[in-house]
Amino acid sequence: MSTDAVSAVINVDIEGPKISKHVYGHFAEHLGRCIYGGFYVGEDSAIPNVRGIRLDVVEALRALDIPNLRWPGGCFADEYHWMDGIGPKEDRAVMVNTHWGGVEENNHFGTHEFMDLCELLETEPYISGNVGSGTVREMSEWVEYITREGDSPMARLRKQNGREEPWKVKFWGLGNETWGCGGNMTAEQYAMDARKYATYCRNYGDNKLYRIAAGAADADYGWTETLMKQLSHLGCQRVERPLYQALSIHYYTIAGDWADKGAATVFTDDEYYTTMLKANRTDELLTGHANVMDLYDPKKEIGIVMDEWGTWWNVEPGTNPGFLYQQNTMRDALVASLHFDIFHKHADRLIMANIAQTVNVLQAMILTDPDSGALVLTPTYHVFQMNKGHQDAASLRVDTPAGVPTREVDGKELETVSVSASRKDGRLLVSLSNLDAQAAQDVEIDLRGGGLGDIESLVLTADTLQSHNTPEQLEAVAPQKYDGVTLDGTKLRVHLPAHSFVTVAGTLA
Ligand code: AHR
Repeated sequence: MSTDAVSAVINVDIEGPKISKHVYGHFAEHLGRCIYGGFYVGEDSAIPNVRGIRLDVVEALRALDIPNLRWPGGCFADEYHWMDGIGPKEDRAVMVNTHWGGVEENNHFGTHEFMDLCELLETEPYISGNVGSGTVREMSEWVEYITREGDSPMARLRKQNGREEPWKVKFWGLGNETWGCGGNMTAEQYAMDARKYATYCRNYGDNKLYRIAAGAADADYGWTETLMKQLSHLGCQRVERPLYQALSIHYYTIAGDWADKGAATVFTDDEYYTTMLKANRTDELLTGHANVMDLYDPKKEIGIVMDEWGTWWNVEPGTNPGFLYQQNTMRDALVASLHFDIFHKHADRLIMANIAQTVNVLQAMILTDPDSGALVLTPTYHVFQMNKGHQDAASLRVDTPAGVPTREVDGKELETVSVSASRKDGRLLVSLSNLDAQAAQDVEIDLRGGGLGDIESLVLTADTLQSHNTPEQLEAVAPQKYDGVTLDGTKLRVHLPAHSFVTVAGTLA
């Protein structure tokens, strides 16, 4: 049953800030089965691969127009020594992955393999450098190895290892969670390091780095303020300003607490609503960090990179607790669709976001079966696919003058309808989420400043919020063509089933 329609207004001819395509970014850490078994199976695998990289994973991610891939961590990044991962595989050093299950890492997937993967995916690499246990020299030489043309010690080493031409890398992270696993530093201590590391990560030739300082967790606005203050301190004028071009933020959505985060597929409606309330906190956090940054950078030249976000549940029963393997339901899909609405709203400052993580870890796009190798696309994957038209589109404001339905959750108000819109190349794309677990909801959108010539609509929903895909049931949650949308002149009426995500696209007339 549906209640009164929500009234929304979109001025299709008033463009807001561009939605950076990079907010649809990804993250691959040496963690559990993300790299090994996920992206990389080795050349001798029976699973079709090119130079050890799984072709089905590449194909699935290319269909999302994956804009960037962050690697090698996460916490792993701050104990990764890149020189262990180059040269003949049989000679590469073996290390212990102390953060994630204490397993041995043979370094068979290193810099060359990662850059090869990015080329196959046609995506931009985002490298997260080691500040916690590395040195300035080590990071500086990694940049030289990857990006320097001509003759130099590191360029020569790269050529000896089979790569003549340098690669292009723009996004470069100066450590990860340096307040925690990346060195347990104070904000002041890290801010000094960030300036130093940024200085020696050089631009070679026309390769221009976009340096990302390791930012705050959750609502640690003091961390953001310390990093912003340090940007205005003077230094050698021959060095590019600002020293770093963005700050990161990490925020995970969990229904319980860190000791018991809740199960991925077994949860009540109350736990579901708590999850959505927690997911919605991303808006408050981005607003808070952006407000602090505005004080020091009113022109918004420094970007926010939310390079870890998504759901974090208890691991699936019987799996290694250090591998962070979790299933992915219709609830996860709605967490993702809500995040994208929030990201679109913050397009003026948010230049990148990376869901954690792409394959087999946390809120993954893709799950692979460890025995058969079968590949499963998750409900979250489908949200990325349905929303890909927002990449690099102009954001459009969505006003709801009479408000949207709300529900009291844990003493707070949760809005149960979320909408965002954008335009690109003469096409309008509207994304709508109905967060109500049980009730359908209609939305009537008044399109002003232009009409639509045609409409195409997709819906993602399922019998239950717990529905998920498995090798036996690959399409329990998959997008369907949708006829619950009508266009009458400039009035678009969208019927949203309970717990659903709908996209409406059309040519602007
Ligand atoms: O994504 C899993 C872990 O979460 C990352 O390694 C770390 O940065 C964060 O705490």
